[in-house]
Amino acid sequence: MRALPSVSNPPLSNLRGRITARGCQISIPLASDELMYGFGLQLLSFQQRGKKRIVRVNADPKGDSGDSHAPVPFYVTTHGYGVLIDTLRHAQFYCGEAHPKPVEPTTNQHSVVNTPQDAGGKGIATSSEVLVEVPRTAGVDAYLFAGPTMQQAVQRYILFSGGGVVPPEWGLGFWYRAELHADQAAVLALAREFRESKMPCDVIGLEPGWQTHAYSCSFAWDQNRFPDPKQFVKEAEQLGYRVNLWEHAFTHPSSPVFSQLVPYAGDFAVWEGLVPDFAGEQAREIFGSYHGEHLIDIGISGFKLDECDNSDFTDGWSFPDMSSFPSGLDGEQMHAIFGLKYQQTIWRQFQQRQRPTYNLVRSSGALAAPYPFVLYSDLYDHRQFVRGVVNCGFSGLLWCPEVRDAASEEDLIRRLQSVVFSPLAMVNAWYIKNPPWKQLNRELNNSGQLAENWKELEARCREIIGWRMQLVPYLLGAFRRYAENGTPPFRALVLDYPDDKNLQTIDDAYMMGDRMLVAPLFAGEAARKIVLPQGKWHDFWTGELVLSDSTFEVPASADKIPVFVKSGSVIPIAGVGASTGDPGSHELTVQIYGDGHISWRAQEEASEIELSWDATRAVGNIRGNGRYRVKQWKPMG
Ligand code: GAL
Repeated sequence: MRALPSVSNPPLSNLRGRITARGCQISIPLASDELMYGFGLQLLSFQQRGKKRIVRVNADPKGDSGDSHAPVPFYVTTHGYGVLIDTLRHAQFYCGEAHPKPVEPTTNQHSVVNTPQDAGGKGIATSSEVLVEVPRTAGVDAYLFAGPTMQQAVQRYILFSGGGVVPPEWGLGFWYRAELHADQAAVLALAREFRESKMPCDVIGLEPGWQTHAYSCSFAWDQNRFPDPKQFVKEAEQLGYRVNLWEHAFTHPSSPVFSQLVPYAGDFAVWEGLVPDFAGEQAREIFGSYHGEHLIDIGISGFKLDECDNSDFTDGWSFPDMSSFPSGLDGEQMHAIFGLKYQQTIWRQFQQRQRPTYNLVRSSGALAAPYPFVLYSDLYDHRQFVRGVVNCGFSGLLWCPEVRDAASEEDLIRRLQSVVFSPLAMVNAWYIKNPPWKQLNRELNNSGQLAENWKELEARCREIIGWRMQLVPYLLGAFRRYAENGTPPFRALVLDYPDDKNLQTIDDAYMMGDRMLVAPLFAGEAARKIVLPQGKWHDFWTGELVLSDSTFEVPASADKIPVFVKSGSVIPIAGVGASTGDPGSHELTVQIYGDGHISWRAQEEASEIELSWDATRAVGNIRGNGRYRVKQWKPMG
């Protein structure tokens, strides 16, 4: 935090607050040209000025209301500061679209518009304010994060959270979740098949069927499907896999932890199970140590914490806002923090064992950057999924645009291309028995009728998954900066280039690390628009120099996703092994774009590694004594 430039004046003055019968109101000024971003995982919109945001956890929002798996009462603006309102209440933010009543009559009487839309929000281009209302509270703390740039404001927020997570190397490999009913033999057969067919994979995930009861959960192995869980995990390890387990927190009466948890649970049931009061130490300890002793100690590498969000408007499940919990929280507050406290409960068990971990979770919130958890969803709009990657960076969250089945081969390819350029590269085949590349159609897939040309599609998917394996060292470098100085590894272009007006609305392209710009393609689109920030850029794949500061169209290539690299970058490309544990994945080809003056650094296990390029002598230099070896230095283009 101290390494960031000091800011002498507070970024804002003129904050006002008052307590009303409804709760607490805050007014924060907004200049006429100021734009707003953030509010956590927002899938439906990007720039937030002119909107009303409700910070309310909801797995299936039907509109752009602010509701999300992981809403966060935090925003940043193009004027270079961030605001965090420290509340678990359903806070409402009127982002510059509430205006005081007029008091002066006017003579301009001839103006008739057809629709409310034509009348427009008066928010943009008029100075205004952000009005925040926090209901049912006697007061609230607001935190201001100075910049001076928008990116630095985000960095400060992330450092204040404890700094960003650095996943273990295997967490950045490829993940595959098997079908929900797959048993021990079937999962191991799939694991072997991937090895035989040279499909890289680091993590195999089990869905609800590993347990005796789900939904709600027993957290006990089903002996019919998994007769020997220890042996199963061991065999998976021998094949080079980590095992990740699906669960949700709602604890079924048949669970071994049920009786102990009864006094430390909320007063309502979800799917007939208890809602553990994770805001209290007792529930965290009972629930957590059971997981530690019975699951983590046999080698489970992480969990997928499902349904810790809420779906009371749409699918009618979860506990009511009026619930009460022994810790003193009510249901509204608990919804806001359930995902975070659940993460903390599980993470602590790994910390106590000094075991690195990387996990999935369906709900999160404020100050979550250090947590080794990545968000995901049941929703499935590809464009929204890419927007999720872009938006999460503002609030210190990570998001996985997972791949399940697909509407067409092209759709599968495009989705897979995006997910390998994301915080967690995963196929979640929880409702299909065979990998999607063998059969896209869900029914046919489950009845075992494979597509005729499946080998061809599998080969294309294998190549794309291989890219991910190649990028693992580069990603480690990006995450290292997340931990060290709070720069989100995946983030909106506007964060790096706040003065570039062309980038203020770009929500379908993003920075990955400090030198790579990713512009995903979407099925059915023949071309896409690329807006490059100022500076010199190269095509990642060919090294070709692209015009700088320019907007252009690229045709949707059949086999590549548009990726651009800042001129001067040194980029490590790893060998593709069966998993990140494969020695081949530590052999690097170092690609040099332009003069190679931007060297690359990462933390690899206990050692630091640096790759640099001397353009005058055309030689590369590797420093550090980690596991990496350079096979080749490769000037590109
Ligand atoms: C959903 C989850 C899916 C899958 C499924 C299994 O809630 O989002 O990814 O795990 O449960 O029942």
